[in-house]
Amino acid sequence: MIVLLYRIPKFRICNVNEAAPPVLIPEADIARRIDELAKQISADYQDKGDLVLIGVLKGAFIFLADLSRRLTIPRTIEFIAVSSYEKSDVPSGAVRLVMDVRGNIEGRHVLIVEDIVDTGRTLEYLIGMLESHGPASIRTCALLHKPESATVDVDIDYVGFGIGGEWVVGYGLDYAEHNRTLPYIGKIKPAD
Ligand code: IMP
Ligand code: MG
Repeated sequence: MIVLLYRIPKFRICNVNEAAPPVLIPEADIARRIDELAKQISADYQDKGDLVLIGVLKGAFIFLADLSRRLTIPRTIEFIAVSSYEKSDVPSGAVRLVMDVRGNIEGRHVLIVEDIVDTGRTLEYLIGMLESHGPASIRTCALLHKPESATVDVDIDYVGFGIGGEWVVGYGLDYAEHNRTLPYIGKIKPAD
Protein backbone atom coordinates (compact mmCIF):
# COMPACT_ATOMS: atom_id res chain seq x y z
CA MET A 1 0.00 0.00 0.00
CA ILE A 2 1.29 3.47 -0.87
CA VAL A 3 0.94 6.05 1.90
CA LEU A 4 1.01 9.67 0.79
CA LEU A 5 2.65 11.26 3.81
CA TYR A 6 1.87 14.83 2.79
CA ARG A 7 -1.85 14.03 3.09
CA ILE A 8 -1.47 13.23 6.78
CA PRO A 9 -1.91 16.50 8.74
CA LYS A 10 1.03 15.73 11.04
CA PHE A 11 3.36 15.65 8.04
CA ARG A 12 1.71 18.44 6.09
CA ILE A 13 1.78 20.98 8.90
CA CYS A 14 5.44 21.30 9.72
CA ASN A 15 8.84 20.84 8.24
CA VAL A 16 10.90 17.85 9.25
CA ASN A 17 12.04 18.18 12.88
CA GLU A 18 9.89 21.25 13.51
CA ALA A 19 7.38 20.99 16.33
CA ALA A 20 3.93 22.44 15.57
CA PRO A 21 3.41 25.49 17.82
CA PRO A 22 0.05 26.15 19.51
CA VAL A 23 -2.61 27.74 17.31
CA LEU A 24 -3.34 31.44 17.74
CA ILE A 25 -5.36 31.98 14.54
CA PRO A 26 -6.74 28.89 12.74
CA GLU A 27 -6.46 28.45 8.98
CA ALA A 28 -10.23 28.88 8.45
CA ASP A 29 -10.30 32.22 10.32
CA ILE A 30 -7.42 33.53 8.19
CA ALA A 31 -9.23 32.53 4.98
CA ARG A 32 -12.48 34.16 6.13
CA ARG A 33 -10.73 37.41 7.09
CA ILE A 34 -8.80 37.55 3.81
CA ASP A 35 -12.11 37.20 1.93
CA GLU A 36 -13.41 40.25 3.82
CA LEU A 37 -10.25 42.28 3.20
CA ALA A 38 -10.31 41.40 -0.51
CA LYS A 39 -13.94 42.51 -0.81
CA GLN A 40 -13.20 45.80 0.95
CA ILE A 41 -10.06 46.51 -1.11
CA SER A 42 -11.84 45.60 -4.36
CA ALA A 43 -14.68 48.00 -3.50
CA ASP A 44 -12.31 50.82 -2.50
CA TYR A 45 -10.29 50.57 -5.74
CA GLN A 46 -13.19 49.98 -8.11
CA ASP A 47 -12.74 52.11 -11.25
CA LYS A 48 -9.27 53.34 -10.22
CA GLY A 49 -7.28 51.34 -12.78
CA ASP A 50 -4.56 48.83 -11.95
CA LEU A 51 -3.66 48.43 -8.30
CA VAL A 52 0.00 47.62 -7.68
CA LEU A 53 0.30 45.19 -4.77
CA ILE A 54 3.78 45.33 -3.26
CA GLY A 55 4.50 42.30 -1.11
CA VAL A 56 7.18 42.66 1.54
CA LEU A 57 9.48 39.66 1.42
CA LYS A 58 9.78 37.23 2.81
CA GLY A 59 6.99 37.22 5.38
CA ALA A 60 4.12 38.44 3.17
CA PHE A 61 4.50 35.92 0.34
CA ILE A 62 1.65 33.61 1.37
CA PHE A 63 -0.68 36.43 2.45
CA LEU A 64 -0.03 38.25 -0.84
CA ALA A 65 -0.72 35.09 -2.86
CA ASP A 66 -4.06 34.49 -1.15
CA LEU A 67 -5.18 38.13 -0.98
CA SER A 68 -4.26 38.95 -4.58
CA ARG A 69 -6.19 35.94 -5.96
CA ARG A 70 -9.36 37.01 -4.15
CA LEU A 71 -9.40 40.58 -5.50
CA THR A 72 -11.89 41.36 -8.26
CA ILE A 73 -10.10 44.48 -9.61
CA PRO A 74 -7.22 44.71 -12.10
CA ARG A 75 -3.93 44.28 -10.20
CA THR A 76 -0.25 43.70 -10.70
CA ILE A 77 2.30 42.22 -8.31
CA GLU A 78 5.65 43.57 -7.16
CA PHE A 79 7.97 42.54 -4.37
CA ILE A 80 10.30 44.45 -2.13
CA ALA A 81 12.66 43.02 0.46
CA VAL A 82 13.79 44.64 3.68
CA SER A 83 15.59 43.37 6.70
CA SER A 84 15.19 44.58 10.26
CA TYR A 85 15.68 41.53 12.41
CA GLU A 86 18.74 39.31 12.42
CA LYS A 87 17.81 35.65 12.96
CA SER A 88 15.90 36.27 16.18
CA ASP A 89 13.17 38.38 17.74
CA VAL A 90 15.60 41.11 18.84
CA PRO A 91 15.47 44.24 16.66
CA SER A 92 18.85 44.89 15.05
CA GLY A 93 18.36 48.62 14.54
CA ALA A 94 17.75 50.40 11.26
CA VAL A 95 15.62 48.96 8.47
CA ARG A 96 17.72 47.92 5.47
CA LEU A 97 16.53 47.74 1.84
CA VAL A 98 17.54 44.36 0.41
CA MET A 99 15.62 44.49 -2.90
CA ASP A 100 13.71 47.39 -4.51
CA VAL A 101 10.58 47.08 -6.70
CA ARG A 102 11.36 46.27 -10.34
CA GLY A 103 8.36 47.84 -12.05
CA ASN A 104 7.65 51.55 -12.46
CA ILE A 105 5.11 52.68 -9.86
CA GLU A 106 5.10 56.36 -10.81
CA GLY A 107 1.51 57.68 -11.06
CA ARG A 108 0.04 54.32 -9.98
CA HIS A 109 -2.01 53.30 -6.94
CA VAL A 110 0.09 51.22 -4.57
CA LEU A 111 -0.91 48.90 -1.75
CA ILE A 112 1.93 47.71 0.50
CA VAL A 113 1.16 44.17 1.70
CA GLU A 114 2.92 43.24 4.96
CA ASP A 115 2.76 40.13 7.10
CA ILE A 116 2.86 41.93 10.44
CA VAL A 117 3.36 45.42 11.85
CA ASP A 118 5.23 45.34 15.15
CA THR A 119 7.07 48.60 16.03
CA GLY A 120 5.92 50.15 12.75
CA ARG A 121 9.45 51.10 11.68
CA THR A 122 9.52 48.86 8.60
CA LEU A 123 6.24 50.24 7.29
CA GLU A 124 7.27 53.83 8.03
CA TYR A 125 10.51 53.27 6.12
CA LEU A 126 8.72 51.62 3.18
CA ILE A 127 6.14 54.38 2.84
CA GLY A 128 8.89 57.03 2.77
CA MET A 129 10.96 55.04 0.31
CA LEU A 130 8.08 54.28 -2.06
CA GLU A 131 6.79 57.86 -1.93
CA SER A 132 10.06 58.91 -3.60
CA HIS A 133 8.96 56.82 -6.66
CA GLY A 134 6.00 59.20 -7.17
CA PRO A 135 2.96 56.86 -6.97
CA ALA A 136 -0.61 58.22 -7.31
CA SER A 137 -1.36 56.94 -3.79
CA ILE A 138 0.03 54.58 -1.15
CA ARG A 139 -2.06 52.52 1.25
CA THR A 140 -1.01 49.77 3.60
CA CYS A 141 -2.37 46.33 4.41
CA ALA A 142 -1.08 44.01 7.14
CA LEU A 143 -2.39 40.58 8.05
CA LEU A 144 -1.36 41.09 11.69
CA HIS A 145 -0.83 44.12 13.91
CA LYS A 146 0.69 44.31 17.39
CA PRO A 147 -0.77 47.65 18.58
CA GLU A 148 0.97 47.48 21.96
CA SER A 149 4.42 47.29 20.33
CA ALA A 150 4.13 50.46 18.23
CA THR A 151 7.05 52.88 18.59
CA VAL A 152 6.24 54.98 15.54
CA ASP A 153 2.86 56.24 14.41
CA VAL A 154 2.03 54.72 11.04
CA ASP A 155 -1.36 54.30 9.37
CA ILE A 156 -2.46 50.79 8.45
CA ASP A 157 -5.44 51.03 6.13
CA TYR A 158 -6.36 47.33 6.11
CA VAL A 159 -5.63 45.07 9.10
CA GLY A 160 -6.42 41.36 9.30
CA PHE A 161 -6.11 40.76 13.04
CA GLY A 162 -4.83 42.69 16.04
CA ILE A 163 -2.74 40.48 18.35
CA GLY A 164 -0.79 40.82 21.62
CA GLY A 165 2.97 41.05 22.00
CA GLU A 166 3.68 37.34 21.47
CA TRP A 167 6.02 36.14 18.72
CA VAL A 168 3.99 34.46 15.99
CA VAL A 169 4.94 32.12 13.18
CA GLY A 170 3.31 30.44 10.21
CA TYR A 171 1.40 31.61 7.13
CA GLY A 172 4.66 33.20 5.92
CA LEU A 173 6.00 34.41 9.27
CA ASP A 174 9.10 32.86 10.75
CA TYR A 175 11.27 32.58 13.78
CA ALA A 176 14.88 32.41 12.54
CA GLU A 177 13.54 31.06 9.19
CA HIS A 178 11.55 28.27 10.85
CA ASN A 179 7.81 27.56 10.66
CA ARG A 180 7.06 29.85 7.66
CA THR A 181 4.98 27.19 5.94
CA LEU A 182 2.61 26.36 8.79
CA PRO A 183 -0.92 26.81 7.42
CA TYR A 184 -2.10 28.67 10.56
CA ILE A 185 -0.70 31.43 12.82
CA GLY A 186 0.96 29.85 15.83
CA LYS A 187 2.59 31.45 18.85
CA ILE A 188 5.96 30.37 20.07
CA LYS A 189 6.39 32.27 23.30
CA PRO A 190 4.09 34.12 25.67
CA ALA A 191 3.92 37.92 25.83
CA ASP A 192 6.30 39.53 28.35
P1 IMP B 1 8.47 46.37 12.65
O1 IMP B 1 9.40 47.17 11.79
O2 IMP B 1 8.93 46.34 14.09
O3 IMP B 1 7.04 46.80 12.54
O4 IMP B 1 8.62 44.88 12.23
C1 IMP B 1 8.06 44.39 11.14
C2 IMP B 1 8.73 43.11 10.71
O5 IMP B 1 9.29 42.36 11.80
C3 IMP B 1 7.70 42.22 10.10
O6 IMP B 1 7.56 42.48 8.73
C4 IMP B 1 8.23 40.85 10.40
O7 IMP B 1 9.11 40.47 9.36
C5 IMP B 1 9.00 40.99 11.68
N1 IMP B 1 8.17 40.57 12.84
C6 IMP B 1 7.69 41.34 13.83
N2 IMP B 1 6.99 40.63 14.72
C7 IMP B 1 7.01 39.35 14.28
C8 IMP B 1 6.45 38.11 14.77
O8 IMP B 1 5.77 38.02 15.82
N3 IMP B 1 6.72 37.00 14.02
C9 IMP B 1 7.45 37.03 12.88
N4 IMP B 1 7.97 38.16 12.38
C10 IMP B 1 7.76 39.31 13.07
MG1 MG C 1 7.77 41.45 7.18
